Amino acid sequence: MKQVNVAILGCGTVGTGVARLLLENGDIIRDRIGCTLHLKYVADIDTQRDRGLDLAPGVMIPDAAVAIADPEVQIVVETIGGEGIAKQLILDAIAQGKHVVTANKALLAKHGNAIIAAATAKRVDLAYEAAVGGCMPIIKTVRESLVGNRISGMTGILNGTCNYILSKITDEGVDFQTALAEAQAKGYAEADPTLDVEGLDAAHKLAILSALAFGMKINFDDVYIEGISRITPLDIEFAAQFGYRIKLLAIAKYNGASVEARVHPTMIPFDNLLSNVNSTLNAISVRADAVEEILLHGHGAGMMPTASAIVSDLADIARNLASDGAGRIPVMGFQANTIRSIPVKPVDEIVTNYYFRFDAMDRPGVLAAIAGILGKYGISLKFVHQKGRKTNGSVPVVMLTHHAREADVSRALAEISGLDVVAGTPMLIRIEDEDGQD
Ligand code: HSE
Repeated sequence: MKQVNVAILGCGTVGTGVARLLLENGDIIRDRIGCTLHLKYVADIDTQRDRGLDLAPGVMIPDAAVAIADPEVQIVVETIGGEGIAKQLILDAIAQGKHVVTANKALLAKHGNAIIAAATAKRVDLAYEAAVGGCMPIIKTVRESLVGNRISGMTGILNGTCNYILSKITDEGVDFQTALAEAQAKGYAEADPTLDVEGLDAAHKLAILSALAFGMKINFDDVYIEGISRITPLDIEFAAQFGYRIKLLAIAKYNGASVEARVHPTMIPFDNLLSNVNSTLNAISVRADAVEEILLHGHGAGMMPTASAIVSDLADIARNLASDGAGRIPVMGFQANTIRSIPVKPVDEIVTNYYFRFDAMDRPGVLAAIAGILGKYGISLKFVHQKGRKTNGSVPVVMLTHHAREADVSRALAEISGLDVVAGTPMLIRIEDEDGQD
């Protein structure tokens, strides 16, 4: 029985999960792939902490460079995270001819083009299933299963922390801060939760997926990003009245000339399958010409779901090694010389339906003033709703629009904000509604 030697760099939650899966499920993995994935090293600066792993003597080492330099190691798994040492170790491993598996979406989103170029030049595999959507096999689905399709769009719930927070506000009516504190207490959110709640983590994943699906260079800088921190229980309540749930969606669309890539809170109808993906779960729908639509659903994070994705990458590489097939499937799904720089539309150019909420004085003529400004910018209203009367005289006024252009919406809302009968910053939430796109 052949053996492929693996080194894990970084033994935190995910690294520990990978080691555990290789040790505990080694037999069934071997039966499936026809060789043993042998865990030769686990490198971590903390070699003493008890991780509940039954490692043979000499496997746990403090120095990742030792693992990378060992000629017997064929695959390096990077589970350190971040853009510092992880990047250097991946480049070192590639330079030494090692195949690399990583779960590091921030690194790929920002430095992926250079890392992929290095791997392609060195003819080593670079695999990253765990970087997007945890255990959901979205990379393999787009890169391999949909090879015969032209992909036109993807809509995903790609951040479990945000989905947990929004689900909590929806189901229990708590405010954002309370829901975030619970997510932190349960260990879902990072200590500094900015990457999650401000939409950056989902945007990292969307940048990778857009490149993979449309054959473009990874372009994180042009992804439009808006987080969930301004969403209130009131907006969620209004959304429900109109038949929508609010989700942080990662949306990519391709019309053959330019790409839309945006992450923002979005209203989607109750009967959209994504609106029923709750708590920390992730899901993604892919639209393509032959299949029409595919939906994947599963755990987007966590020790063992993420480890499962990494082991699937290890198995692919081991199979490639057995057949001398490294590079058989290009890293980004397209032959390197066909990958283009496709322009990403500025958000100002998108056209969609909108929900607005204004805090307006309850006086004659106020509604007419707001509607007049919207009309001036060519924004047509589908629905207007005013709820209750606040003691200080201001009331929430909610409006749903027909199709409007974001640039017009921005100008209109800026002007409406300046009215002395409107308090604070208006709330804007985009609506994705296939049936209501008019
Ligand atoms: N912080 C991420 C989430 C983890 O909440 O989904 C997986 O990338």
